[in-house]
Amino acid sequence: MALGLRGRIVGAVLVTTVATLAVAALALLGPLEQSLRKAALSTLKNDLPKDPAQQFQKLDLLGLTNPDESASAQFSLATTQQQLATRVGGNVYVLGYPAADGQGQLLLPRDLEVGNVQADSFDDVATVFRSGRSLSSFGSIDGKDYVRVAVPFRNAGLQYVLAIRRPIDEIPAAVDAVRTAFITAALAGLALTLILAIPLAMTLVRRLRRLRQAALRVAQEGPVVAVPEDRASDEVGDLTRTFAIMQRRLQHQEEARRAFVATASHELRTPLASLDGMLELMDDELRGGEPDLDDARALLERARAQSRRLGRLAADLLDLSRIDADVQLRSEPVELGELSRAVLAEFELGTSERGIVSGLVDGVGPVWALGDPGSVARILRILLDNAVRMTPTGGEVTVELSGGRMPALSVRDQGPGVRPEERALIFERFQRGRDTGGQAGFGLGLAIGRELAARMGGELVLDEPNGRGAKFTLRLPAARAPDAGAVALV
Ligand SMILES: Nc1ncnc2c1ncn2[C@@H]1O[C@H](COP(=O)(O)OP(=O)(O)O)[C@@H](O)[C@H]1O
Ligand SMILES: [Mg+2]
Repeated sequence: MALGLRGRIVGAVLVTTVATLAVAALALLGPLEQSLRKAALSTLKNDLPKDPAQQFQKLDLLGLTNPDESASAQFSLATTQQQLATRVGGNVYVLGYPAADGQGQLLLPRDLEVGNVQADSFDDVATVFRSGRSLSSFGSIDGKDYVRVAVPFRNAGLQYVLAIRRPIDEIPAAVDAVRTAFITAALAGLALTLILAIPLAMTLVRRLRRLRQAALRVAQEGPVVAVPEDRASDEVGDLTRTFAIMQRRLQHQEEARRAFVATASHELRTPLASLDGMLELMDDELRGGEPDLDDARALLERARAQSRRLGRLAADLLDLSRIDADVQLRSEPVELGELSRAVLAEFELGTSERGIVSGLVDGVGPVWALGDPGSVARILRILLDNAVRMTPTGGEVTVELSGGRMPALSVRDQGPGVRPEERALIFERFQRGRDTGGQAGFGLGLAIGRELAARMGGELVLDEPNGRGAKFTLRLPAARAPDAGAVALV
């Protein structure tokens, strides 16, 4: 089975700790004994008298024949030797006369335990006698290690060697002590690492598992389920909070979707019921002995109006579902003047019937904006439809353009205007104001217009009232006019 997050975290921490300790052990404990031995040797060399000949110069070491003088010389020699031994903390020997076999003759100490001296090979002394140069090295007597130095010097024309041995049997003990301390510290460190890493990994895994369970429940039961709270300011906490944001948005979308479906089906039911009622009336009328044709025609006209209204609702709902499905809009230069004239022409018949004057306030020249031509025309139709409906007979509806960084298209009418408390509301889906201008739509027009505008990177707003009527403005990003050749092709 694949290792879980917990196993991997603990494993990684463990491996890192053990590897670090192993490297430290190799680097520290390996060369420790060697370094200590080298240090002992160099300390001994530093402790040596600078010039042994100086120390022993007054002593005629071998030349005395008078027993009394000899005894006194021996005594001072022993004293000097003793002082030196105390100073360097080891054994000091003075050897003279290279013997035929290369070994020196031991002058001091006289009363040495023979066994000890014999156990020492003094091979370094033999070498020094031969080479005349001092030598430092390691030696061993009965398994006990020591550092040793042999220094040649001359006295009364004769060659001597000063040999010093200092035991270093404390080194293995020191190394042992360091090793024990290191192992203890390493074990303690390892235990501490585990004590810290295991609960950390467990908490992390527990938090992630809670989040996973919440995600599964959202998947099964929808976004209504509560997401666990995680206040920790780390990545898992961030993930949990992000998940909660996502869940809340899903919840809002779900609520909006339900409300939309409920309202839309309600809005559909009412005109369908009235359509059904009219058809039934007409049926009754026509079944009767002498059908009143005028009545029937009037009913038919009302039924057709109702059916047109249902057609508009269907178109609006289709628009909204396209917007909700994020269908990609085109983004191309649109000349607002030309487009306005074309849309205004569609309204001409209706407005002239009611004696309403509608037109484009000219004077700015071509205004190029970036957008989807179909959607811009749709927004203008929505605005003109409202404006014409709201404007009393004989009134005026105008479309006004302005260029600049955000080219604008405004529709102004001479209706009652929008009540201040309804200014925000009328842009919501299925929301209409108190003045609907009589036969009205379903309160979807401005909602569609605003969302289309936003999708094109622009906005649809209700301008502040300035005199009578209302003024809605669509702003879009500016576009550079395509070059003449491209226009000619269109
Ligand atoms: N030009 C206008 N003058 C005054 N009120 C308006 C105007 N345009 C829209 N409104 C208000 O905004 C509401 C919503 O408009 P809209 O979304 O187009 O829906 P509908 O036209 O179906 O009522 C209208 O019912 C009306 O109250
Ligand atoms: Mg409308």
